Amino acid sequence: MRSGPEAKFAVPRLTAAVLHIGRDVVPAFAGTTLAGACLRANDGVAVESHMAKSSLSFVCQNCGAAYNRWQGKCEACGEWNTLSEEEGATSVPVSIRSKRKGRQFALESLSGKSQDAPRLSSGMTELDRVTGGGFVRGSVLLVGGDPGIGKSTLLTQATSMLARAGHRAVYISGEEAIAQVRLRAERLGLADAPVQLAAETSVEDIVSTLSEGAVPRLIVIDSIQTMWTDTVESAPGTVTQVRASAQALIRFAKKSGAAIILVGHVTKDGQIAGPRVVEHMVDAVLSFEGEGSQQFRILRAVKNRFGPTDEIGVFEMTGLGLREVSNPSELFLSERDLGTPGTAVFAGIEGTRPVLVELQALVAPTSLGTPRRAVVGWDPSRLSMVLAVLEAHCGVKLSGHDVYLNVAGGLRIQEPAADLAAAAALVSSLVNAQLPTDAVYFGEVSLSGVVRPVAQTAARLKEAAKLGFGRAVLPESARGEAGDAGLALNPIGGLTTLVAEIAARGTPRGNRESSRDATVVEKNATPARFRRENG
Ligand SMILES: Nc1ncnc2c1ncn2[C@@H]1O[C@H](COP(=O)(O)OP(=O)(O)OP(=O)(O)O)[C@@H](O)[C@H]1O
Ligand SMILES: [Mg+2]
Ligand SMILES: [Zn+2]
Repeated sequence: MRSGPEAKFAVPRLTAAVLHIGRDVVPAFAGTTLAGACLRANDGVAVESHMAKSSLSFVCQNCGAAYNRWQGKCEACGEWNTLSEEEGATSVPVSIRSKRKGRQFALESLSGKSQDAPRLSSGMTELDRVTGGGFVRGSVLLVGGDPGIGKSTLLTQATSMLARAGHRAVYISGEEAIAQVRLRAERLGLADAPVQLAAETSVEDIVSTLSEGAVPRLIVIDSIQTMWTDTVESAPGTVTQVRASAQALIRFAKKSGAAIILVGHVTKDGQIAGPRVVEHMVDAVLSFEGEGSQQFRILRAVKNRFGPTDEIGVFEMTGLGLREVSNPSELFLSERDLGTPGTAVFAGIEGTRPVLVELQALVAPTSLGTPRRAVVGWDPSRLSMVLAVLEAHCGVKLSGHDVYLNVAGGLRIQEPAADLAAAAALVSSLVNAQLPTDAVYFGEVSLSGVVRPVAQTAARLKEAAKLGFGRAVLPESARGEAGDAGLALNPIGGLTTLVAEIAARGTPRGNRESSRDATVVEKNATPARFRRENG
């Protein structure tokens, strides 16, 4: 089967009436010899392999490091129990490498002419924002995400948009039968898009089929873990197979100029399952994230050779597919719990876009010897630093308290500018004092307790004003850049000032009810502009 000519498969359209459910059964390789397997070199010349006996090796399923005997811990990545036995782990035997003569190739200049627009807009603004302005010709993108997060939905939508715009777009599903993919397309209202569809898993068949006719502008491979290639003996899904399949597809992308999107599964600890090696091979790695209970989905670039990695795309999962959210602040603040101590609104910047998000803190007396510090959506070491500064410079004793910090809406903040908002939320919770609900906070806190300026003050203030906030607590030294955003400014030079201001509003614990009553006026006075836009 492997030595025969490559099979070709038909590429039916989403609209075709016949439901084709069958697909290739992925063969599990049990043989120990690989005689006459073809290893395709870049120049297309087939090289005969005369590997007499494939050598066994143990490959780390996390990072791809190979060992010649089993061991409990992978020395390369430090993971335990990730080594598993694979056959033919080295895809090109040494004997071949030494025999092959080097082919001569032409060297090019940097200023060569490219035939087409170098970037292809996906028709989805939020997706383009993350890729850095569209798909780059000949590039390979890896999209990772938890099971069921909506990877297939996102890419079905993207391919359909491109196909409707008149480009050749191909969707290869290795996980679902054609009928299932069609069902999804129907639900999303995209069944009429001229997407070319196939349920295939053999990389050789895919490359051979797609080499015919016009070069596809976009090829989606859903998912890379289901693909297998003849050139290696390992079973599908193993690191060796995934790596070899990815390599073959990347080679095809570079040669043909098609953009390829590989879907990758993510393990429970957030790694793109198995092939971290693939992350190094591809041009960009996007991660699709979201809280299970919430409808927000955030697409973020982990790596991007052609664009920034600090942009995020925000979507909302609906029955009709993913809706793009062009103003994320409204979404993140839509379910604010007004009038609760321990919450502060952070005016942040994600890439080029200001994003307002609520930080929620809970500081509670602990019964444990070592108090808990738990943080979701922010850097735990930043939290430790802010806590240390509060203790050392502001007289806030937290060693007897558990501390929890959460960024609402499933957003992950990377900016140090969130220090001030986090400190405000923490102190607010500790002294049981509600912060003014119409205030936003931003500023970096230094180890000496000084509040330092951060970039893009004006943009942050403008976004806050747009969403109806009335005042901003910001670094003293940033006042000059504030411009006229129409907000009352409350500049803070040191963290001590902030703590004193919040503590002055505080009421002792146990007196909570009366403190709530006292804030009723303020609660009603807050702008009710957080309602979500429809459509
Ligand atoms: N009828 C529906 N109405 C609303 N949402 C739906 C509906 N059907 C599916 N979904 C949403 O789509 C999600 C599945 O999307 P999708 O199949 O694109 O995920 P995936 O990331 O490709 O998953 P997998 O890793 O299993 O391939 C579900 O978790 C659900 O949130
Ligand atoms: Mg899927
Ligand atoms: Zn490893």
